[in-house]
Amino acid sequence: MKTTLQIEVKKTDHSRIHETDFDNLVFGKVISDHMFVADYVNGEWTDLRIEPYAPLSLNPANATLHYGQSIFEGMKAYKNDNGEILLFRADANQKRLNESAARMCIPELPEEIFMEGLLQLLDLDRNWIPNKPGYSLYIRPFIFATDDYIGVKPSEKYKFMIFTCPVGHYYSKPVAVKVEQHYTRAVEGGTGAAKAAGNYAASLYPALLAQRQGYEQLLWTDGKTHQFIEESGTMNVMFIINNTLITAPTHTGTILKGITRDSVLKIARDWGMQVEERFLSVEELEKAIQQNTLQEAFGTGTAATIAQIYKINIYGTDYVLPSKPADAFSYRVLETLDNIKYGKEEDSRGWIIKV
Ligand code: COI
Repeated sequence: MKTTLQIEVKKTDHSRIHETDFDNLVFGKVISDHMFVADYVNGEWTDLRIEPYAPLSLNPANATLHYGQSIFEGMKAYKNDNGEILLFRADANQKRLNESAARMCIPELPEEIFMEGLLQLLDLDRNWIPNKPGYSLYIRPFIFATDDYIGVKPSEKYKFMIFTCPVGHYYSKPVAVKVEQHYTRAVEGGTGAAKAAGNYAASLYPALLAQRQGYEQLLWTDGKTHQFIEESGTMNVMFIINNTLITAPTHTGTILKGITRDSVLKIARDWGMQVEERFLSVEELEKAIQQNTLQEAFGTGTAATIAQIYKINIYGTDYVLPSKPADAFSYRVLETLDNIKYGKEEDSRGWIIKV
């Protein structure tokens, strides 16, 4: 992308990279040296800059702290064997950020600012991108309100920022999930499709209750009847029943339009697999488990990639799923995605940007 943007760059004079243990990365705890920042003031995005990663100073009356007008994205960059940076589907994240922005009354962020800020940040902190299998650089773009005003209305000022974290696996092993029967992640007409901070805040308490009972994540069900499966924790969720890949559709506005979800569905269709984007009832899932027609259950997400589900609690009954053959779809699709992301397989779908 040709750009005329002026981005002021102030480099750190104390890189933390040599203090970082790249062999023991805890997801989201280690942050790279720099961050990209832009401010929305007087109706325009301005003052684009890259500066050393540092705490922010906020007024206690900051609108985000009170009313949660805040959205974010998650994506990843990888290194291939030649040391080149491969960025996965950043254009999709850029579009989704603006979809979330529209829902939350946040002004649109021009594509050029998102992409150019991101590419310059990645270039500057390229040494932070791990180059071992299973490791990557997690990228966190976000926008939040910066008005200092105690009244409920859309803010007039915002900050857009990107920082990055070298990461390993989000889940190091398969997860146990529990069907949620009472609490709700999203309802039709709500903000479930937006990657809005408040959606995650609202999920914490029910997730904590499930974690106390030994389940890593919830299987969220629809807000009206709790009969249909929507998502799992912070991931989309997919099932293979009778060789058909089933996942919830996104038209109700209650499901996050996951980019890993979309990638998995595209690969499955390219492989000639039967795919159904439809709501799966808890009853149908339970029957499929009992009749041994459920072949696979897994979550999809940027952080989690493909998270295997080994146990599902349905209305109080624990079902441990049978182990999968080595050529199971979820293993193969993970391998294919990894091969594309690490540059080991041709990127025939145009998903990779080389930095
Ligand atoms: C992601 O998968 O990128 C997420 O946003 C999930 C989580 C880390 C909040």
